[in-house]
Formats: sequence, structure tokens, C-alpha cells
Amino acid sequence: MTFSAGGRVVPWWSQHANRSEWARMIRRAVAFGVICVVMIATLSAGLSAQTQPARSLPGQPGGIEDASLDARVESILQKMTVEEKVGQLVQYSAGQPTGPGTGRTDYNDMIARGQIGSLFNVIDPNEINKYQKIAMEKARLHIPILFGLDVLHGFKTEFPIPLGLASTWDPSIVEKASRVAAMEASADGIRWTFSPMVDIARDARWGRMAEGAGEDPFLGSAMAVAYVRGYQGARLDAPDSIAACAKHYVGYGAAEAGRDYNSTEISEHTLRQYYMPPFHAAVEAGTASLMSAFNSLNGMPSAANAFTLKQVLRQEWGFRGLVVSDWNAVGELIPQGVAAEGATAARKAFLAGVDMDMVSSLYHDHLQQVVSLREATQAELDDAVRHVLRLKLALGLFEHPFVDEGAAAKALYHPDSIALAQTAAERSFVLLKNAGGPGGKALLPLANGIKSIAVIGPLGDDSSYPGGAPQGAGPRVSLPTALAQRIGGDQVVRFKGTGILDGTDAEIAAAVAGAQKADVVVLALGESPDMSGEAASRAHLGLPGRQQELLEAIVRTNRPVVLILFSGRPLTVPWAFEHVPAVIAAWLPGIGGGPALARTLFGDVNPSGKLVVSWPRSVGQEPLYYNSLNTGRPPGDVDLTRPPTDIVSKYVSRYLDEQNSPQFPFGYGESYTSYSYGTTTISTQRLSAAALNKSLSSRTVAMTAEAEVTNTGSRPGEEVVQLYIQLRGTSLAEPVRMLKGFQTVAIAPGEAKKVKFELKPEAFAIWNDRNEFAAEAAKVTVWISPDSARGSAAQAEIVP
Ligand code: BGC
Repeated sequence: MTFSAGGRVVPWWSQHANRSEWARMIRRAVAFGVICVVMIATLSAGLSAQTQPARSLPGQPGGIEDASLDARVESILQKMTVEEKVGQLVQYSAGQPTGPGTGRTDYNDMIARGQIGSLFNVIDPNEINKYQKIAMEKARLHIPILFGLDVLHGFKTEFPIPLGLASTWDPSIVEKASRVAAMEASADGIRWTFSPMVDIARDARWGRMAEGAGEDPFLGSAMAVAYVRGYQGARLDAPDSIAACAKHYVGYGAAEAGRDYNSTEISEHTLRQYYMPPFHAAVEAGTASLMSAFNSLNGMPSAANAFTLKQVLRQEWGFRGLVVSDWNAVGELIPQGVAAEGATAARKAFLAGVDMDMVSSLYHDHLQQVVSLREATQAELDDAVRHVLRLKLALGLFEHPFVDEGAAAKALYHPDSIALAQTAAERSFVLLKNAGGPGGKALLPLANGIKSIAVIGPLGDDSSYPGGAPQGAGPRVSLPTALAQRIGGDQVVRFKGTGILDGTDAEIAAAVAGAQKADVVVLALGESPDMSGEAASRAHLGLPGRQQELLEAIVRTNRPVVLILFSGRPLTVPWAFEHVPAVIAAWLPGIGGGPALARTLFGDVNPSGKLVVSWPRSVGQEPLYYNSLNTGRPPGDVDLTRPPTDIVSKYVSRYLDEQNSPQFPFGYGESYTSYSYGTTTISTQRLSAAALNKSLSSRTVAMTAEAEVTNTGSRPGEEVVQLYIQLRGTSLAEPVRMLKGFQTVAIAPGEAKKVKFELKPEAFAIWNDRNEFAAEAAKVTVWISPDSARGSAAQAEIVP
């Protein structure tokens, strides 16, 4: 597949001229003073009609913007009382009777009175129907309840965690996985998922890095689109479609010190250039909903942030879907300090643009009064309710409110879905190191003649493969079982060695004794699934508990060791990278993890995953990301592996005690074959900013870039080829590199393939010092490379 900023196959989300591009053009035109106010007014009026999307994106028609919904929305709205309107904006978690706002027991009565618009965490179809029956039969207006759930990487058939899915660099896999999730969840009666999480994550201390697509906005946007397309399918009202919810808007991934829920300080430039693009891409792809985040952004909590929710999301991007708060985020405005009591919190969140209040109950308690005191207008209330009704209508819930309880289970764990989960896992593994085999060769893949394998470590059992999707169970084959199926049951021995956080000397000794008798040791170490995800920040990123001790004891046996790291983030294990011959980052691979790993170890699969986050050497380097700015004191040729010895090596941007570079850079991943990259050539050395700006939203090709990639090894492989650019001399400093294209190419041994990228004008545009998206005069460097740290450079220039 190809994904490039203007590539042969253009990103789905930028294939069509759309409203936001119009909005962008209008803003630019105003800035440049080239069109008059009358024209702007005319264009804007045309855009606000929103009935003529000049695009054929998923769900259009059949999506959230479908004009045929308008009349029905208005006719229901007309009949509603203020209480019923507020009711549509109220959501509770009916499945977990704990936590603020969820301790209610009167959902049945509330539904009958039209006081609840949505429930989530109800997974039993029978329960779903019971609640729905009340809404459809007892409530005056028969408005169905919208049932939601965190379907994050599969419903029952569990796929790798999103960080793993992103490591495939394959949006089509993500789209297919989300389709399976949608089919299973919808068959269960769940028509709304709180996914995808499209937060940019630059700090591995933040546990929720596991839930997203990593640190890059370009890749993150591609993945955001893939999730939305997969969940929502061709039409939202198809019975197997579910509404997507891009979260957490916005900047949540920049939580200070990586501590979850922490505040963020992000400039508008950085927000627009790095944190917002995946959300914008999700909106462009037709996401039906968005979730506001927990974090304060420059002092303003996200649930009360009219700049992000109204100005950018509604006005600039023209979003017409539903905005839901995060869990009790309306209530959290009080501890966050912008409200002293519930009524103010409800008013502030509502006026800022949060349509639906997740679990705090403050809309239920106060919103009617907010309206009656005229602190919010009827029109504002109607608008928020429209967003809810529109979504329910778009999903076809009025026509089909009930789930077929008999059919629900049949949609789960289809063999094709399980096969896809396994393929996704295979593609998600990142081979970080592969050396140290017999005769100086690489250790992996394992030779077929291997007679005995010891699987050692707390994460060697099937219970370790899931992560974050608590509802998933299903048929799993553990790694030892999958290996036993391959080489024979007696040949595989299993030792726990340690727990994840604990362990005894005796357990370690038993594992060492087991290792000594084995041909190969497969060490399964890392984090338990609950050590990443929400509320799972870590200040130390090494192996938890006694696992490092176990690792060193096993390596001392001098048996060949393959280390498989299971985690929701990169782990700082420099000792392992120095002493263990082969290391695979397996993330949390889901239901297909065991067989996928066995096939990878034996070379049935050639690893092709690449890192979507920079892998730190030590936690003190965080936040660590490849697309950082240069400093005025780059270290250049200074040897950062030694402490400074003179003023030349000292007064540069560096640590006294650590290198600047990551252990492995963004985009990195090895393979069982090897590739060589030829020179990058570009179609033009000279671009004009004026011309680029004129065609910024068009699909014209501004530049093509090409390089030959040769498979120099002896196995067929799939290589993720990446294209980066750098712009120098711009009004604001731009990063040392920015990803602008990627594609996976299958290359046979000895074969050389020309890999070509087409860059559209927008690839050269930046959010400038006036917070406009535009191309500027600049020196341009273009790399086609295997990762963010290598590749041959071609030079060009953008003249004014
Ligand atoms: C999380 C969201 C999630 C919500 C509902 C919150 O705590 O931040 O990502 O969707 O709970 O479960």
C-alpha cells in the first residue's frame, strides 16, 4: 500500500477538496488580501449549508452529515421539552456502578422520563434490549438509547494494542481490524465505540501511548482515517457499523512529565502542526463523534475549551457530529479550578461545546437551570441535541433499536477474524536486534532442527497477550503451545522465572536450570497489560520487579537467548540490547499473539514492523521524538558517548551522562533480510511558495522523489520505505525531519525496486508565525529512508 503526502495513491482523507480546505483557503485569502469580503461571504454561506459534500468519504451520504437527516432531526426537536432535550445530553456508565455519577440505580426511571441519551459499559445484549424497551415503549418520544463502549482494538476478537497495530505501518490492516470490531460490537448491540485514540504521544512514561499510533502526526492521521473507515463502514445505518469517536481532543498526550491526567502547555503552532492533524483527519474521514480530553491546555481544561471545541472544531473544520466529554470531565472542572461548583462546571462545559456529559450527572442536575437563567440559549441547547439526534438517526437506531439476542454470539470469533488478528500481530512485531547466532550469523529465524526451547519469563503464557480490552477472551494459543505444535510437545519447557513485579530466588534458579538444558531460550519479559493504558504512567521504564535479574541470570547461562518484550510502550533495557543477541518488541499482541510469535521465530514470517515511537535509552531523555527542532547548539560531531572534556564538547545541547539519540529511532525495524537504499532523486530543485499556496488544497503533484531499494539478503521481505523532509529558513523553526510519505514494498532477494513518492503542495506547507497553514520560502531537504535517522538527502529550494 502507499501512503504519501501526495503519493501515487493519495491519502484517503485528502483526496477531495473539502470544507476545511475551503476554510483554509479563505483564511489565506484574507491574509493575502486577494479576494474581497463579498466573495468570502458567498463561499462561507455555501459551506455552511453543508448539504453538498464535494467528497465521497465514508458515511457520505449515510454519514453524520447526511442532509436527509435534517428534517427528521427538526421534527423530533420540535416536540421535545427542555427536560427531554437535556436528557439527550446525559450519559451514564450502567455497567460499572462505581465512580462519580455512576452510582445511580434509577436508570430505568430516568430512561422512562426521557432523562438519558446514552449508556455505556452495558455489554449483555439482553440488558441492552431491556433498557431500550423502556426508551422505546415508556418514554414519551420513543427516542432510542445510544449504547457505547471502549472497543479499542477489537471487541471480542482481540487485535494487537493500537501502538502495535500502528507499528504495521499498514492502514489497511487497521481498517480491517476495526471492521471486525464493528461487526462484533454491533451484533452485541453496541453502536458507538470510544475509539480511535488519536493523541500524539511523545513520552513513553505516559501509559496511554499504548492506545494510540505513536508520535507522528502524518502516520497518526493515516491511522485515524483507517479506524474511522473501519468502524463506520460505507454507511452508519448499516447494521454492522458503529460510530467512531476520535479522542481525546486535544493535547492529552503531552501530559506533563508523562503523568496521566496532568496539565499541558502547548503553543497554538505546536497544537495545530502536531497534535491536531489526526483529529482533523478523523473529522475529514467522517468520524461521527469526538471526545474532549481531561487535560488542561494552557490553563483551560479541555472540557471547557471553546477555542479547541468551537473555534477550531466547529468553525474551522465544520464538524457536525457529537462531542462527548471524557469520564466525569465536566465534574473535574471543579478540581481543575475553573468552576467552584457543579452548576458552573455544567455551564462552562456546555458553552464551550461539550454536547454530552459522560457520567458526571452535572448536565442532568443543572443544565435546565442554565437555560432558564438564560446563561445558555435555547438555540445552543437545540444545537447540542441535534448532534445527538443526528447520530441516532444516522445509525438507524429509530428503525432498529433492538439487538437480535440470538444472533449476537454468532458474530464473535469468526475464523477469518482470528486469522486477521494473527496477521496483524505478525505485522506488528518490530525486530530490534538480530545477531549472535552460530557462526556469527543472526540468531533468528531459529533453525528448523532445533530440538528444545525453554520459554522463560512471566509473560510467556496466553494470559499475557491481551491488553486493554477486558471484554475479550476467546480461543487463544499460548506461545509455548504454538511452539510445541511446531517442534513437538516434549521439546518445549516453560518456566515462569519471576512474576511481573515479584519473584523468588528459587523460581529464578529453576529457570536457570531449565535454560541450561535448552537449545534456545525464549525470554518473555515486560509489562502486564494493566501497566499501560489509562492511569498507568511510569517513572521508571526498565523491566519491572526482578525481571532484569532473571534476564541477566539467563544470559549468564550462555545459551542463545531471544528476548521478546511485551509492553504498551518502549522499555529502557540498554543492558539487554548490549547482551542479548535477538530482541523483538511484540507489544501486547492480542488473540493471535502465540502463533504469530512462533511463526516469526521460525521465519514463516519475516518481520516488517517499524517503530512508531522513538525508543529511549533512558527515561531522562523523555519526552523524546524524532520530529524535534534543532537547537542553536547541536552537538554535531561531538562524541556524546563520553562526558564532555572541553568547552567544545560541553557547551552544546546534550546530557553529561547520556547520549541524545534514542536507542532506536522512529521508523526503525530490522528484518531477516537486508536492504540497501540508493540515492534519493527529486523531480525539481525549485518550487515557488506562491504557486504551492495557490494549489495547496489540490491534488497536483509538486514534486516526485524516488530511490531504489534493493533486497540484499536471501529472503523475500516487505520493507516500509519512508519519506521525510526538512524545511530551513522558515518564519518558525521547523523540525529536523517530518514524515511526509510511506509505503510498504515487497522485494524479492536480489531484486531492486524503484520506490516513488509524489508530494502534493501541502507537504511543503507549515503552520507559520501567523498561525496560517502556508508554504514559505525555504531550503528543502528530502530523504527516502528506512527510518528517521538514515537515508540519502536531496536538496531543493522553495523560492517566494
Ligand atoms: C477514558 C476514555 C474512555 C472513557 C470511557 C475514560 O476514563 O479516558 O478514553 O473512553 O473513560 O470508558
